[in-house]
Amino acid sequence: MPRRASATTPLLADDRHDSASESEDDALRGSSASAHTGRSLYMRLREVFLFGWALLATAGILIMAVWVSHNSQTHFSKPAGKRNLIFMVSDGMGPASLSLTRSFRQYTEGLEYGDTLTLDKHFWGSSRTRSSSSLVTDSAAGATAFSCGKKSYNGAISILPDKTPCGTVLEAAKRAGFVTGLVVTTDITDATPACFASHVDLREQEDEIAMQEVGEGPLGRVVDLMFGGGRCHFLPNGTEGSCRADDVDVVDIAKSQHGWNYIDSRAGFDALWEGKVDIPLPMLGLFADTDFPFELDRRNMNEVYPSLSEMAKTAIRALEKATVNSDKGFFLMIEGSRIDHAGHGNDPAAQVREVLEYDKAFKFVIDFLKESKTEGVLVATSDHETGGLSIARQNTPGYPEYLWYPAVLANASSSSEYLAKKLHRHIASLEDPSMLSVEELTTYINDELVVPGLGISDASDSELAEIVKSTESAQPLLAKMVSVRAQIGWSTHGHSAVDVNVYSSGGPGTEEIRGNRENSEIGQFLRNYIDVDVEAITKELVEKMDRKPSFQSVEATTAKEGDHWAAHEDFEMRRLTNDIESS
Ligand SMILES: *[C@@H]1O[C@H](CO)[C@@H](O)[C@H](O)[C@H]1NC(C)=O
Ligand SMILES: *[C@@H]1O[C@H](CO)[C@@H](O)[C@H](O)[C@H]1NC(C)=O
Ligand SMILES: [Zn+2]
Repeated sequence: MPRRASATTPLLADDRHDSASESEDDALRGSSASAHTGRSLYMRLREVFLFGWALLATAGILIMAVWVSHNSQTHFSKPAGKRNLIFMVSDGMGPASLSLTRSFRQYTEGLEYGDTLTLDKHFWGSSRTRSSSSLVTDSAAGATAFSCGKKSYNGAISILPDKTPCGTVLEAAKRAGFVTGLVVTTDITDATPACFASHVDLREQEDEIAMQEVGEGPLGRVVDLMFGGGRCHFLPNGTEGSCRADDVDVVDIAKSQHGWNYIDSRAGFDALWEGKVDIPLPMLGLFADTDFPFELDRRNMNEVYPSLSEMAKTAIRALEKATVNSDKGFFLMIEGSRIDHAGHGNDPAAQVREVLEYDKAFKFVIDFLKESKTEGVLVATSDHETGGLSIARQNTPGYPEYLWYPAVLANASSSSEYLAKKLHRHIASLEDPSMLSVEELTTYINDELVVPGLGISDASDSELAEIVKSTESAQPLLAKMVSVRAQIGWSTHGHSAVDVNVYSSGGPGTEEIRGNRENSEIGQFLRNYIDVDVEAITKELVEKMDRKPSFQSVEATTAKEGDHWAAHEDFEMRRLTNDIESS
């Protein structure tokens, strides 16, 4: 690797410098040599001996350094044998989320304060997350850095700043004979999964992303297993549960044109017996219209939605079985998608449960790799942090106490998102919402949402009055009641630029992503580890999509990107606050 090679350069340079100055010293001493010839001869011999010895030692070290570097280089860039690669993304999880969740778990399970999450035990380094268009990235640019190993603009789905497509590690893996999978808890057409199996200019083009993901893209079908939400993008406009603009039936195309097996319910998922039976591939499992509920709420709807760890387990076993007789392994991306949404909603009670579930899925993968006969690596990181989360909050002008209260988060049994939706459904269910008195609404909010849902029994009149006044903002207001009491701080409803953590099982080549890295370096590691030709895929994509580099349009869109993205984030917020959904 270039970095390794350059690391040896200073060693050489220093050496030349040392020997040069030594001969200068010799020359100086030479002028006074005649005065003490005997002693001087001894000194000179001793110096010659020491110099020779130093030279030999240095040469030895150099030879060893080159040998070691060469050895690890060849081992890394030309991996031999079958191997599996699992890449996990904790969308929107910054370092503070780990401290929050670790302490929460210690509190709720009565553990020692030395007790850590499984993630903590596999801490590897950190990643810098900026995109090509902004110091604060979005998930699309973040995932493009992982899938293509290159920086791009916010909103890009594996498209580069010059508007040409870039081949992804998943596409190259599929082409090389690997079996591939994507597992998420949000729309399968959302930015992170989309970046591995589709190419569009903007993340909002989810109808098109759905088409490409099932096999209608320039490369045909590249994914063998998909589990997630976002079913609404696969159903034709006009049918129940659709959010497509056109009347294309993507499920039908998937089944009839690309051979997908399709399941859309918990019953369908349970019939896979967590992968203990043979699972026919390709397998498309869409278990929610849009997002899965937060884990905090999902556990009360376990008969409707599988959990992230259940899906991860099933997917890994399916891919392992599918590759048992192959000389290639599998590539699987697993995303804890909604850690990000809990951050957008500034809801710490929802977030700790999302991170715990992600940690559980991470542990399953680690244990799988330990027991697997096939060599494999797990790399896990986040695309960015969300919310500017801090594990302290100053609520009053007086100097704050040094503490926060996990007990408040433990008391919540529903997310603010779920409770806000419940409120909106309640209002919508009334024949004449304008007849609802302030007293009735206040009582409903306190008795039906705040006390049983948030576990807060001391809501102030002004807190309740604020929600009554603007019910459309119920979600952030309810979340704030939790954060204030737990003394948890947030600086934004958007993303932040803080470096995020990288985790790994370790193993061949993973030293390449130790320390502080660019997110694009993580992407480069992925392709190198399974030794697949992403550049060939890029070439093919550029030809098939008939794209010419267009820097002009980059500037045009970069200027628009900000507005566009503000609109998108606004959309995400509305989805969190207003969405009156049937779930
Ligand atoms: C579905 O089609 C109708 C009628 O053409 C249109 O008004 C609506 O916006 C479409 N739905 C979506 C999500 O685009
Ligand atoms: C948790 O809820 C219980 C009963 O609902 C309440 O008595 C208690 O004060 C709450 N604890 C915290 C820390 O909010
Ligand atoms: Zn986000």
